[in-house]
Parts: sequence; C-alpha cells; structure tokens
Amino acid sequence: MRILSIASEVFPLIKTGGLADVAGALPGALAAHGCDVVTMLPGYPVVMQEIARAKAEVEAFQLAPVLGCEARILACELAGLKLFVLDCPQLYDRLGGPYSDSGGHDFSDNWRRFAALSKAGARIAQGAIAGYRPDIVHAHDWQAALTPVYLAASNRPRPRTVLTIHNLAFQGNYPSQVFPELDLPTATWSIEGVEYYGNVGFLKGGLHACDVVTTVSPTYAKEIVTDGGGMGLDGLLRGRGSRFVGIVNGIDTTFWNPETDPAIAANYSATDIRPRIHDKRAIEGEFGLRREDGPIFAVVSRLTWQKGLDLVAGICSEIVSRGIRLVVVGSGEAMIEGAFQAAHSRHPDRVGVRIGYDEPLSHRVQAGADAILVPSRFEPCGLTQLYGLRYGCIPVVAKVGGLADTVVDANHAAVAAGAATGVIFSPPDEASLLAAVDRTLELYEDAGVWRNMQAAAMKSDVSWEKSARIYAGLYRDLMKE
Ligand code: ADP
Ligand code: GLC
Repeated sequence: MRILSIASEVFPLIKTGGLADVAGALPGALAAHGCDVVTMLPGYPVVMQEIARAKAEVEAFQLAPVLGCEARILACELAGLKLFVLDCPQLYDRLGGPYSDSGGHDFSDNWRRFAALSKAGARIAQGAIAGYRPDIVHAHDWQAALTPVYLAASNRPRPRTVLTIHNLAFQGNYPSQVFPELDLPTATWSIEGVEYYGNVGFLKGGLHACDVVTTVSPTYAKEIVTDGGGMGLDGLLRGRGSRFVGIVNGIDTTFWNPETDPAIAANYSATDIRPRIHDKRAIEGEFGLRREDGPIFAVVSRLTWQKGLDLVAGICSEIVSRGIRLVVVGSGEAMIEGAFQAAHSRHPDRVGVRIGYDEPLSHRVQAGADAILVPSRFEPCGLTQLYGLRYGCIPVVAKVGGLADTVVDANHAAVAAGAATGVIFSPPDEASLLAAVDRTLELYEDAGVWRNMQAAAMKSDVSWEKSARIYAGLYRDLMKE
C-alpha cells in the first residue's frame, strides 16, 4: 500500500510540536504493516540544508507553477524517511520558523504557503510524478487540509483521503478575499466546501471533503463532537458519524529509550532504575538547583493557555514550600514566561527555568525529573506524558483528551494492583492541581509505591504498534471502497 503523508513539520527535520513527532515516527511503524509511506513537506531552509549536509541522493521533478509559484519536488531519503520536499523558494526560503518570521510574527501569506503544499500534494496524488501514485493520501492538520478539497473538486481518478486533526484550535481561517487565489472551482465556495462563516476555512473544508477524519485520541474525539468542545466544528464532526475516529498517538520508542538514549547522563531500565539518580544529579547541576532529598517536578512544553501552565506558575510558591523543586523548559506566551522567570528570581535554587526550545535538554529532563506536570485545559493527545511514562518520570495530568487515555491514575485500587502510572486531576484549575501535587508528593514519599509506579509507567505500551495497525486497517478498508 502506498501512502502519501503530507505535513508542515516532520521530526527530525523541522519541529515546533507533537505533529512533527507523529509525522516523523508513524511512517516507520506503518512499514511493519505493509505501508510504504512517502512524507511530503515544504522545503524550508533547514530542510534544504539538511539535504545538502547529508549529501542525500536527490531526484528532482519539475511541477507546473503551483498557485503562481515556481516549484519542484525533491525526492530523497533522509533520517530513514522517504521524502517529497516541495522546493518553492518564493514561499519557503525565509528566515524564521515554519510559520513565522524571526520575530515570531506569522507570515502574512501562510494561506498561500500551505494551500500550495496541499495543491502540490493533490497533483502528486493524481500522477504529477511519473511512476508514483499513492493508494491513500494522509493529510495532517489545517496546513495540509486543502489536499482532500483539491482532490474532491477534481473529476479525475483520485486516491482515498484521510485527514488527521492534531489540534482543533488551529483551523487556518482566512478572509474570503484569498478564495480566488486558491485555484479552486467556484462551487467549493459553499457550506459543503471551504466557506466558513464568510471566511475560507482550510480545516473546515478538509473535514468535509476527506473520506475519513481522524484525531489523535479517543477521548479528544468524544470531546470535540460536543457543543462546548468543538470550537465551532462540532456539528460538522458529528455529521461525519462513523467516518470520524480517534486513534491514540504512540512515540518512537527507539529514539526515546532510557536504556540507550545518548542525550542523558546515565542509561537505565525498568528493571534497574538505580542509575537514574545520576540523571537527577545532572539536571540539578544544569539548572543550578540546591541538592536535596525531595522530588523534582518538570514542565517541558509550549507555555500557553492550552497547556494550563499559568496554573503551574500560579502555584510555584506552594510547590516550593512543600520541598519540591521545579524545572521548566519551554517558550510561549510572554505572561507565562515572565511568571516562571519571576518564580526563578524568588527561588533561584529551587526553580530552574530555560526559555527556549532544546530537544536534548527535553530528554535529560524526562530522565532526571521525578514527575512531569501536564495540566492542559485541552489536549488532543499530548506526547510529553508518553515520554514521561517511558522514562519513569511520573505524569501528573489533567483529565482531558489523550492525557486521560494514556495515564492510569494512582487511586487506591490501581496502586494496590500495581497498575498506577501517574496522577490524574480534574478540573484543570489551581486548587485541583495543587491537590494533585500533594497526592504525588505523598506517593513519592512511599519509596516502594513510587518504584512500582515508575516500573509500571516504564512498562506501559506507548509504542506505535497498536495504533499503526489501526491506521493500516483504516487505509485498507478505504482502498476497498
Ligand atoms: P503540542 O504539540 O501541543 O505542543 P505535544 O505534547 O504533542 O504538544 O508535543 C510537544 C513536543 O514538543 C514534545 O516532543 C515535547 O518534548 C516537545 N517540546 C515542547 N517544548 C519543548 C522545548 N521547549 N524544548 C524541547 N522540546 C519541547
Ligand atoms: C497537537 C496537540 C497534541 C498532540 C500533537 C500530536 O500539537 O496539541 O496534543 O499530541 O498534536 O498529535
């Protein structure tokens, strides 16, 4: 089965969040189920540099201009992934990140940048590259969501399409003025097409046009068909009925493996967790924390309202007063960054803060901290709790979305059965978070219970195995239609 996966970020080439991890790891897991995945992404400068640096063997295919821009596809293999890189300097050869300039401002033509990605993807799906025709197109998030729209609007044979929602908060809505620039038939300016309350809705259009919609956990799938959780798209999603499913994410358990991870100070396993103490000592040193007996709690995250990290910032003093040290790695909203920096100034040897993005540091923190806090207000899946489980860094999570699906709360029965892997709290507010912190501290203070929880966490199945099988089954069913 040939799958064309289209995403705006793919680890290890370019990453701002979990989408990249998923787009980077799922192809490998699908290979075991007979899926030959090619991943298509924009040719951002870092991607083009990596192709040059790795001296990858490249085959170039000229495309007819895409939305008025000169473009070609560079087919190559990098980091174990088969890639179609959309080389279109006019749209992607820019300083900054995948979506914004160096000052953090979104590019004003993001609609064109990602409509072009989708348009080029649709063309490839219909044979623009000689000798290549996918059986299934799998588009991710709003940036690739027009692919099924372009395909559904064409009257030529097309492959079946899957669109995955990684986060319904990002919908790609733009003023109606961009519609004539999208090279879509006039008929797609409709309720069944991309029209969305007088705007162009990229994700909205894709959700209508694709054959199957998926999202990244069963609980999030239930949440977003409700009035309160659907961010305006709940009606549409309800209308998709059995064509909308939640499939939980896994993680790359080879890359994220405490037994072999080269980024961490000492390797360890579920059966011999003792070396982990060296990882704890290492982050104490790295963050300038006072060396003492109590636990270290961690945050590795975008610092945003979604992630509920204002709640952690709000109870920093209470956390510290309980003898807990805190390390924070992340960047995002200025208010939350500032609140953590202020907490660091108040407690320089108890609160360590790194504003920024640092992949190896995220591994060291998962290996060295005792617990990871994920108090999200909503969370489609969440990956940091999965990395926490894998590294024996106990997740303390809000009862939402994929967090609720992947962590087993340490209630009495679960602790007694040796099944507990974390602490779940609800609702996501400061009082419940603080209660969860206290509960976690109590569990930590019982060394036997804590060890059992760490062992259960490290043994939980966070791999892609089950979910890759489900995706492959879904692709196969679609091919039969
Ligand atoms: P989201 O995609 O909503 O940000 P996820 O939990 O799915 O949330 O994925 C976040 C990914 O980004 C994880 O791989 C996490 O380790 C990583 N990450 C987030 N912030 C940082 C940071 N400051 N430094 C390094 N990695 C980070
Ligand atoms: C999004 C979501 C996150 C999810 C990730 C990968 O960024 O916010 O919950 O884990 O996508 O699917």
